Amino acid sequence: MRDFEFFSPTRFVFGRKACDQTGSRLAELGLKNVLVVYGRGSVVKTGTLDRVRASLAEAGVAVTELGGVRPNPEVGLVREGVDLARAKRVDGVLAVGGGSVIDTAKAIAFGVPYDGDVWDFFSKKAKPEQALPIACVLTIPAAGSEASSSCVISNDALSLKAGTNGDVFRPRLAIMDPELTFTLPAYQTAAGVTDMVAHICERYFSGTEAVPVTDNIATGLIRALMEAAPVVIENPTDYDARANIMWAGTLAHNDIAGCGRSLVPTSRAGGWESHGLEHELSAHHPEITHGAGLAVIMPAWMRYVWRADPSRFLSFGRDVFGIEPADATDAAAEQAVLRTIDRLQGFFASLGMPTKLDAFGLGEDDIEPLIGTLRITKGEKFGAFRTLTMDDARAIYRSAL
Ligand code: NZQ
Ligand code: ZN
Repeated sequence: MRDFEFFSPTRFVFGRKACDQTGSRLAELGLKNVLVVYGRGSVVKTGTLDRVRASLAEAGVAVTELGGVRPNPEVGLVREGVDLARAKRVDGVLAVGGGSVIDTAKAIAFGVPYDGDVWDFFSKKAKPEQALPIACVLTIPAAGSEASSSCVISNDALSLKAGTNGDVFRPRLAIMDPELTFTLPAYQTAAGVTDMVAHICERYFSGTEAVPVTDNIATGLIRALMEAAPVVIENPTDYDARANIMWAGTLAHNDIAGCGRSLVPTSRAGGWESHGLEHELSAHHPEITHGAGLAVIMPAWMRYVWRADPSRFLSFGRDVFGIEPADATDAAAEQAVLRTIDRLQGFFASLGMPTKLDAFGLGEDDIEPLIGTLRITKGEKFGAFRTLTMDDARAIYRSAL
């Protein structure tokens, strides 16, 4: 087991009606005047925002609101939020939504005490060090931002989508009420589950040796997701299945599924190859849902790299799908690995996720622009399971056409 650090300062308030505790829980943190950030209307339509407002009013927490965050959030609204938060002298930022809203809230929280432009954190010109306290009411389990050390923001003018990492990005409070997710469309539910599986796989295939305790957490989470996901696609108001998916999304990305598997003790496990490749898709085409992009990219990446360590794929196939090679030959191992990848992709497809890039209307001509910006965000080479060059990246995109 590799050396590691694991820091999870988030208080999780999980369960039915947790949403109505938002005000009292923020008051416990000493917050009196918060910026409430939300998306393009789902929380207005479902009544979640009204419940949060009522709860904040009851606790005597003053509110300034900023709505309109789009999926694959853009830095323009973050800049607006920074100005607004400064003008209103807020003492905390509360996200009511999913990964896009939480990441916008995180970026605003870091932008407020910073003198320069907030994009500096994403272009790696500046290192985020201090921020206003961040809290969230989660409405879609997917990105794991409610507990993660990441923040991902797009910059349309540069066609870039970039993440920045650090424990400072972990929220202080996550209100997790599975009933709030009953209204999710099947496509968003499925994309969320796919993203969770991808977060687990990025860490599982991290180019390091097996760590049974962590690997069992990882594969157990995927098995739980495979059980619960079809249930909620069939019955969107199944509380237990929704609750299991919601908690799995947090554990998939708070780093507990990667402890002891990192090449660098102080950073997260994995080379995040599929995420790197997907982020270019949603940077250039913001209408692509992150999880749906991963449903196409991750199996393509797996088929391209598995030979770097077949044993890792064999243990994954055994523990997730019960797949064993027929005998001890290389041919049987190859067959078992390829069946494993097919089964994983089949699971995503069974939930309604796409399998090819043409589902997004993308073709050969769309690949080169992706490589151009991938080079900016990742450099000439990236990856941990197997180092990828820009030629490798091009080949993976092509294999997904
Ligand atoms: O905008 P509204 O109207 O609220 O609708 C949203 C949005 O269209 C809708 N939605 C959310 N809760 C709902 C709901 N609809 C009905 N009922 C509800 N209860 O769902 C849509 C997607 O929301 P979004 O926040 O974009 O989803 P997600 O949580 O998947 O976040 C995706 C973003 O997170 C980034 C992704 O790249 C992408 O930008 N990621 C962030 C990470 C992190 N910070 O740790 C890690 C991830 O790997 C990922 O990169
Ligand atoms: Zn993701």
